[in-house]
Amino acid sequence: MWDPAVYRRFGAERSRPFFDLVRQIGAEQPRAVVDLGCGPGELTRTLAERWPRARVVGVDSSPEMITKAAADPGPVEFRLGDIAGWRPEPGVDVVVTNAALQWVPGHQEMLVRWVGELPAGAWIAMQVPGNFDSPGHRAVREIGAGPRYADRLDGVLRADPVDDAAGYAALLTGAGATVDAWETTYLHLLPAARSGEDHPVLRWMEGTALRPVRAALDAESWTAFRSELALRIAAEHPERAGLVAFPFRRIFVVAQTA
Ligand SMILES: C[S@@+](CC[C@H](N)C(=O)[O-])C[C@H]1O[C@@H](n2cnc3c(N)ncnc32)[C@H](O)[C@@H]1O
Repeated sequence: MWDPAVYRRFGAERSRPFFDLVRQIGAEQPRAVVDLGCGPGELTRTLAERWPRARVVGVDSSPEMITKAAADPGPVEFRLGDIAGWRPEPGVDVVVTNAALQWVPGHQEMLVRWVGELPAGAWIAMQVPGNFDSPGHRAVREIGAGPRYADRLDGVLRADPVDDAAGYAALLTGAGATVDAWETTYLHLLPAARSGEDHPVLRWMEGTALRPVRAALDAESWTAFRSELALRIAAEHPERAGLVAFPFRRIFVVAQTA
């Protein structure tokens, strides 16, 4: 289950890659724009501001996210749906998917299919985290592999569900698209917390990567898991001058169909 309020804890830091991504889309007057894995909807709304004459649709598989997104009135249509089952409808000239495809197994094949199904000159803009080898993710996998949790977390902990920028570029170029791919490591400087249990990197991860872990464990095991992880994260991301430095690598691809 996604909690829109927990996800939005670091809204400014999370939204920056979205804007860095969509800035590279060259579409001038798209007929329809789709945001796949739109989350709570604020960022999708900015697409309607940029292309006021386009039909803008946000799709997300989380009822909590769609309820939150649809609560604010506006021109964007929000729809419950799974990216894995999405097919481009006629008139879709721009597909945006920000920080969502890492949750969708087999998304590489889907991207190739979309290149073939979208109209000529359409744009696909995607961003995925490239930080699955970061200290926090490694700690989650190592703690999760321990005897206390391994059976319940079997299949929940993903080693590396994304490709690198060159891999996506080769994939989409091979499918016939023109590709601009890059990666950026943002250095988020997060206000330090008084206690390790409230460490900002831990709180960040609770909004995203830790959700499936929490869902798979009972309350007592989750508390123990979280405390162990808090110690590891505090050691990897110490406070300096009241801030915690949190490097976060992200992978960007903007492709245009032939
Ligand atoms: C990290 S959030 C990103 C939200 C938004 N795109 C943003 O940039 O703030 C990931 C979103 O992807 C959605 N998601 C994950 N798997 C999905 C799937 N298979 N189909 C549709 N949405 C999915 C989640 O529900 C969540 O809202």
